[in-house]
Amino acid sequence: MLTIESISPKLLKAEYAVRGRITIRAQELERQGRKITYCNIGNPHTFNQKPLSYVREVLSLLEFPQLLEKDLGDLFHSDSISRAKHILKQMPEGLGAYSESSGVSFVREAVAKFINNRDGISSNPDRIILTDGASKAAQTVLTAIIKNDKDGIMLPIPQYPMYSATMTLLGGHSIGYYLDEENHWQLNEHALHTSYANAVKQGINPLAITVINPGNPTGAVLSYENIKMIIYFARKHNLAILADEVYQENIYSKSSSFHSFAKVMDDMKIKDVSLFSFHSMSKGFYGECGHRSGYLEVRNVSDEMFAQLVKLQSINLCANLVGQMATYLMVTPPHPGDASYELYIHERTSILNDLKEKSLIIGEALNKIDGIKVNIPEGAMYAFVNITLPEYRLNTADIAPDEAYCLALLEKTGICVVPGSGFGQHPGTLHFRTTFLPPKEAILELVQQLENFHREYTSN
Ligand SMILES: Cc1ncc(COP(=O)(O)O)c(C=O)c1O
Repeated sequence: MLTIESISPKLLKAEYAVRGRITIRAQELERQGRKITYCNIGNPHTFNQKPLSYVREVLSLLEFPQLLEKDLGDLFHSDSISRAKHILKQMPEGLGAYSESSGVSFVREAVAKFINNRDGISSNPDRIILTDGASKAAQTVLTAIIKNDKDGIMLPIPQYPMYSATMTLLGGHSIGYYLDEENHWQLNEHALHTSYANAVKQGINPLAITVINPGNPTGAVLSYENIKMIIYFARKHNLAILADEVYQENIYSKSSSFHSFAKVMDDMKIKDVSLFSFHSMSKGFYGECGHRSGYLEVRNVSDEMFAQLVKLQSINLCANLVGQMATYLMVTPPHPGDASYELYIHERTSILNDLKEKSLIIGEALNKIDGIKVNIPEGAMYAFVNITLPEYRLNTADIAPDEAYCLALLEKTGICVVPGSGFGQHPGTLHFRTTFLPPKEAILELVQQLENFHREYTSN
């Protein structure tokens, strides 16, 4: 019988806090009948966010094409039916067959057109790989470039822990760089240089920098100037850029806009910095996490390098076909005049407006609590909340003080959030990450419960 001793030390060492100790305890409590408010993971459909109708209509028809031979009455919008027919005409084998390794070609063409429309820049469908979610896209790139434990990737602190966990699995070196909490979690040039120089001093060979924009866990949206600074920094140090842009539709603040790295780099006329950009249908207003749909767009690498990425993808044959079709629908939404257009706009607007309202509610209410402060989220689905604890709450044996806080919060209120230590944080600071996905009423209640809990937890 295999035992824990049989497990690779790399896997044993890898950590993914979003589904870590606190979440496991929450599930235990739930099994015992406690009501748990899961604010630990950006999984919108678990909070009754409905899937977009046109997406599910087309996917249903693609999964069961025999429906297209039936009288469907008014069950499906006419454009969903014609779209499904159009797709199946281009791939009569349907969703049950493998596709080419980099993904169905008309989907890659549609992705390239989407990037072109979004940014006004050209995009090459033959430099796009369709993937099982953005996670797989990032892992493909990291797997391809990490050669040994001296190879390093610069990762934000705080960061989405898929990156550090993947680095641990691959045996590479995570080079943390601090995001600037005092400046809306933007990247700071001085912090980048410091972390780069420290890594080099330790004999590490930095290969690339990962940037998450809009940010998880920070909820920050990077300014155009900040992105420019990062590109110059990468160029100066011969680093590739991994741009995680899965939250590009989730922008709430009027003063922020999404700028893709591809667009800014094109504006700067830089063609010698390798760029890997990731997008996915898991976030935005789709929330289709379960469909594992995503893509990787690659710029400024040699043909031979790109061929190796495709080879890597081919070892897994291809991304799942339902996910590939979901990506197709993400990048080709209904047009004005299509039967499902109005419903699509209504669904999109209500989801985004709701998230925007909740980002403000949670940000403003948390900032009123003594001992708690937060940069009001400008994007994504998270707030990274700074907590001040009294001295006696800092001396926690066998558990980090922020984890002890989150555990106590869970036990007391049923609210499940993730300790800041799971994402990394500046020494001397403590945080937790919460989503603002629960319904508005639940968020208001959550803030009230948090306030009571925090007062009690921090009083002598
Ligand atoms: C920054 C970031 N990148 C990637 C992912 C994973 O995306 P996907 O579901 O497409 O793999 C997440 C999920 O929360 C995320 O927050």
